[in-house]
This record gives sequence, C-alpha cells and structure tokens, in this order.
Amino acid sequence: MKRYGIHFRLLMAGILLISASTLTLGYIGVNITHEFMQERFENQIRFLAKYLALNAELGILIDERPMLKRLAENLLLEKDVIRVMIINDREECLADVAKGSEARCSTLEAPVILKENENLDNPFRQQFHRKESKETLIGKVRIDYSVEGIAELLTVMKVRFIWWSAILAVFSVLLFYFLSRSIVSPLTRLVGAAREVAAGNMKLRVTPGNLPETSELALSFNAMLDSLERSGRALADANREMVKQKTLAEMGKFSMIIAHEIKNPLGIIKSSVDLLKNDVDQGADNILVQYIEDEIRRLNRLIEEFLLFSKPAMPNFREVDLNAMLAEGISRFEIQLSGDEIGISSDIPGSPCYAGGDPDLLMRAIGNVLKNAVEANRRKGRISVRAACGDRAWVLEILDEGEGIRPPDLGRIFEPFFTTRAQGTGLGLAYAFQVIQNHHGTIRAKNRSTGRGAVFTIELPLEEGR
Ligand SMILES: Nc1ncnc2c1ncn2[C@@H]1O[C@H](COP(=O)(O)OP(=O)(O)OP(=O)(O)O)[C@@H](O)[C@H]1O
Ligand SMILES: [Mg+2]
Repeated sequence: MKRYGIHFRLLMAGILLISASTLTLGYIGVNITHEFMQERFENQIRFLAKYLALNAELGILIDERPMLKRLAENLLLEKDVIRVMIINDREECLADVAKGSEARCSTLEAPVILKENENLDNPFRQQFHRKESKETLIGKVRIDYSVEGIAELLTVMKVRFIWWSAILAVFSVLLFYFLSRSIVSPLTRLVGAAREVAAGNMKLRVTPGNLPETSELALSFNAMLDSLERSGRALADANREMVKQKTLAEMGKFSMIIAHEIKNPLGIIKSSVDLLKNDVDQGADNILVQYIEDEIRRLNRLIEEFLLFSKPAMPNFREVDLNAMLAEGISRFEIQLSGDEIGISSDIPGSPCYAGGDPDLLMRAIGNVLKNAVEANRRKGRISVRAACGDRAWVLEILDEGEGIRPPDLGRIFEPFFTTRAQGTGLGLAYAFQVIQNHHGTIRAKNRSTGRGAVFTIELPLEEGR
C-alpha cells in the first residue's frame, strides 16, 4: 500500500474540505435564492392578475369585450406574461390575447369579485361595519407566464458558483501548500540531519524553526545528539581504559616472570662481584667493577618497580593526617637531595587534615612526582609544594621550574612505560596514578602559566564511607 506523506495529506485534506464546504454552501445558497426569487416572481404575477381582475369588474358586468381585450393586451406588454384570458362566471371567454412564445410556462388565476355594500347610504355603518359587504364571483382572469427568466438566472448563478468554487479550490491548494510546507520543512530538515548523524557526523545540530512544536522537536533532537556524543566519548574512554587494564594485566604476568627469572641470577652476580672486588687491584679494574655494580643496581631498580607496579600492595586504609604525612615525607625526600643544588619550598598548613588512606603508598606516589620535578629541574633550582585542606578534599600542588611537558605528551604521561628520559622506566607516574585512583582521588598535570615548568595537582577526597 502506498504511504502518503504529511505534505500530500494536508494538501488533499485542504482541497477536499474547501471543495466540500463551497459545494454544500453553494448548493444551499442557490436553492434558497431560487425559492426566494420564485416566490417574488409569483407574487408579482399574482399582483398583476389581481390588478386586472379589479379593472375587469365593470367590463365583465356590462360584457364590454373590446375594453376587456384592451386591458388584457395592456397586461400582455409585461415581460414574462405570455397569455391573458378573461372569463365570466358562465365560463365564456370574454378576452383572450397571447404572445407567440414556445417558452415553458405556468398558469395563475385570479377571481373577479363584485363587492356590493348594503349600507352605503349610512355613513356610521360604513365606518364601523365595513365587513358586512357582500361578495359575488362574476368571473376570473387567467394569466400564463414564462418561467424561463428564472431558469436562466438560476443557470447564471450556478455557473458563477462553479467558477467561484474552482477559484476557491485553487486558492485553497496554494494556501495549504504553503501551510503544509511550513510544517513539513522542519521535519524534512530533521530527517536530513538524522541521516547525516547516522553517517557519522556527530557534530551536526539542527536550528529550531518558528513553529513551537517543531522547534521543541529540534531542541530535543539536539539534546539527544549531545547525550549521544557524551555517551560515545564515555564509551571511547571506557574502551581505552579497558585496553589499558588489559595491557596492565598482561604486563603484570610478564613482569612476575621477569622478576623471578632475573632477580635470582642478579643476586648471584652481585655476591660474585663483591667477592671479586676483594681480589682485583685498585685502579682501572676497580672502575670496571663499579660499572658492573651500577648496572646491577639499575637492573634491580627496574625489577623492583616492575613488581611494585604490576602487583600493587593492597592499600591498608587508616585515618591519616595528610598534612603531617606530607611534611614528614618531604623531610625524608630532602635528605636524598643532599648532593643536589635544589631546594623545596613547602607551604603546608600546620593544622591536621584527616582522611582515610595508606600513608606508605600515598607517600611513595607523591615521591615519584617529586622525583620527576627534581629531574625536570636538572637537580637545581626550586620546587614548590603547596597543600590545602578544603571542606571536601585535600589538594596538593607540586610545581617545578623545568622545561614543562610537551603538549602532545600531556595525555600520555600517566601511561605505563611512557618516558622521555634515557634512564627512566616510565612507571613512576603510572604507579602514582594507580595509588591515587585506589584512594578515589585524582592526579592532573599541566604546564605552568608562567611558561616555565609543570604543575602536578593531586586531590584526595575527605568524605567518609569510601
Ligand atoms: N615535572 C615534569 N616536567 C616535565 N616532564 C615530566 C615531569 N614529570 C613527568 N614528566 C614526563 O612524564 C614522563 C613519565 O614520567 P614517569 O615518572 O612515569 O617516568 P620517568 O620519570 O620517565 O621514569 P621513572 O619515573 O621510572 O624514573 C617523563 O619521562 C617525562 O617526560
Ligand atoms: Mg619518574
């Protein structure tokens, strides 16, 4: 079955409605006018007949036929009168005149009545008892008249009516065409937009039209696209996260094997080197032994970090004063910096700031960020640490004066193994991210607005029930 659109349906409904109403109204109008005119016309002929009957009274009484004929001929001059007959009470035709016409006609008769007043001589009776006059039928006049005039008028009216109906129908088509177009075009635009969106253009938005209903539809459509876009982004993020988790899981297994396979031989190498060190001479040979020791240390660190990251210790949550934890952690960290020309200026409130957390894991994560800051500063200059205890979160900022992070790297620095440093493993920030996430907090990085250095912000929630 063919399905017709709104445009076509509205157009058809408009044409049908206007045509039906003009036809009905026209039909009723023509009929009423016809009846009205017919009545007026008959009234006019009846009046003429009565007028003739009144004039013919004397002629019938005295049987004056030439006079009656003249009266009849006078009436025959009227436009629609075809034949006039004057007949006496004995049914004798006293006058009969006619026009030679073939037209359709109707007949009307009027009685000729003689009124005899009984008390004409009594003025009092004349004034109060007029109805006492006696009436005698002495004859009748018969008029044949043509109804062609009315029929012609009716035909003219019908033709005009058909013309007006046709003009109205054309007008209605135009009117409904523009009306339905104004309704349908926003819908068509929406359909087009939906197609484009289906083809992948999620950035597209439709402009709301003038009609409240369609503009509401357009706004809902745009809102739907916004939410679709948001869900799409969330899905992509979830997908990325899933891939990351999978990589981590794979890496966890891999690093466990490496740890087992390398750690033991490395221990043996280390003790062997220690034994050898006692036998070798001072000088050049000792430097080679030192190289071996350095590389063993590096390998050991790599393995330790692998293990730390791939098999993270379960956080041992307890109530911690984060400000005190940080102050103590920085003091320890500063001891490691004794050989560097670096200073840490810390701005940590003296009042306690309690939250649930594992201070060992948290300080190891913060230490990784501090270590990066030291490395970025090339082991000299100043690093600023600021902490603030808000109503809902503890916020820590670590600012350095290094070269900052390259903008394309900003989105990748928390990925495991992402590093730009020759000696780096790329696990420091990945570990910090993991720990902060396990504490339901966030860690972010950006370049400083001063144009020199980076700033890392860690936020830990203070609410209960985590
Ligand atoms: N403060 C900083 N300034 C500039 N770049 C930084 C800073 N902190 C981190 N980065 C960038 O992020 C990368 C990843 O850091 P991450 O701590 O994870 O690994 P790494 O420092 O390279 O190695 P590791 O921590 O194992 O020694 C770094 O290689 C560096 O490019
Ligand atoms: Mg690092």
